[in-house]
Formats: sequence, C-alpha cells, structure tokens
Amino acid sequence: MQTEQSILDSWQVNAAPWSKAIADKAIESRQLVTNAAIVQAITKLQPASVLDLGCGEGWLSRALKAELPQASIKGVDAIPALIDAAKNLSTAIDYTVASYQDIIAGALHDAQYNLIAINFALFGDELVRDLLETLRKHITEGGHLVIQTLHPVVACGDLPYQSGWREGSWAGFSSDFKDAHPWYFRTLEDWLALFLHCGYHIQSMQEPLHPKTGKPASVILNCIIE
Ligand SMILES: C[S@@+](CC[C@H](N)C(=O)[O-])C[C@H]1O[C@@H](n2cnc3c(N)ncnc32)[C@H](O)[C@@H]1O
Repeated sequence: MQTEQSILDSWQVNAAPWSKAIADKAIESRQLVTNAAIVQAITKLQPASVLDLGCGEGWLSRALKAELPQASIKGVDAIPALIDAAKNLSTAIDYTVASYQDIIAGALHDAQYNLIAINFALFGDELVRDLLETLRKHITEGGHLVIQTLHPVVACGDLPYQSGWREGSWAGFSSDFKDAHPWYFRTLEDWLALFLHCGYHIQSMQEPLHPKTGKPASVILNCIIE
C-alpha cells in the first residue's frame, strides 16, 4: 500500500539524522522516561532471547545486552543505513535488514524468541495488524510481545479522539529531518482491540509519566499469546 511504503521511504531519507539524534541524546522524553521504562519492562521478564523489531540504530538491543549479557539479542530494521550504524556500534548483537513486509512474507522462517520488542516503530494500519498476526508464531510458548508507543490521549492533540491516518511532522526534531511520513493514530480502545483480534492477551499496561508535564510519555503493552 502506498501509505505504508511512504513510511519506509521516509526512514530511508532520515536514517542519518535519526542516528545522530540518538547519539546526541536529543529526544528529551526518551532520556527522561521512555528509554528506561522499556528496558525495565523487558529486563524484569528475564527473556533468554529477544527480537528488537524496527530497531533503528540499535540502542535498545545494546541496552538489553548490557542488562542481560547471557541473552541472545537480534535487531531487525528495514533500513540498511540504520542496520549498518547498529553493526558499527556493537558486534555482540545480530543485526539484520528486513522490513515488516518481509517478515509477513516469511523472512524470519521458523525462528522463535522469548520476547519480541517494538519500541516506537509501529506506524501503519493493515501492515501493523498483519505483522502482529505473523509475530505470534515467532514467540515461544509463555513468551511476550512488548510494545512501547505514543500515548494516544497525549498524541491525539486537538484532533478528534478517533483512529485514522494522520499527517506526519518532525516538529521538535532538527531541521535535518525531511519528508515526515503519515501515521495511523489508534485510540487506546483500538490498540487493545487490535491485540485481542491478533490473538494476544494483555498481561500488563504501563503509562510512564513525563516528569516535566506529569502526562504519560508513552504506553507500554506487555502481551502474551492467548
Ligand atoms: C522511531 S524509529 C525507532 C527505532 C528504535 N526502535 C528506537 O527505539 O530507537 C522507527 C523505526 O521503525 C522502522 N520501521 C518503520 N517501518 C518499518 C517497516 N515497515 N519495516 C521495518 N522497520 C520499519 C524505521 O526504519 C525506524 O528505524
């Protein structure tokens, strides 16, 4: 679908500024709240194997390797420049180029992981549904899917609180970012319904608070297979 493809096109163009923003610790909410929140949510589950999907330049994989040195960690992203950056930053992690579309088409073969993590990397509509359905078979029995995404109530802004495609924006990012991609806004009710539809059970949900605003900086959903 054209819109889903434009998301990939945008990350292709913005791979270098994204890597720089992470290296410079330029995203305040990540530094203050959301990085620690996702690392903690995952490490407390003590997975022996983790797939970091939509891993970008790989910071989460590296943080998990530091916390869980015995665990096998794999990072996957569609954008070759981001995977190259990740490989340059760590040789202890298996980083591979693959898109969600590739994964739906079978790119992970019969690989299974104790935990699949997706940190701020789900932007689409049908693609996300098809991906979540596909990921079920790549999670071991008793394993987890842990997702961190923008908190819908906060991300909604002034528009009506209803699911649908929205225009993208790089507001708050450096002027090096270009071609912001559209993204599919989901209400919290629709996120929960999506996981149920795809065969997951929501074991826990967290709403990490931004210390400056007192509002949720994100939502973290910890799902298990039904
Ligand atoms: C906001 S970045 C987050 C990266 C990383 N998870 C992190 O926390 O820094 C979103 C990531 O999703 C990846 N992504 C978006 N659509 C994708 C797709 N269809 N297949 C694979 N990766 C995708 C992008 O390439 C990008 O690295």
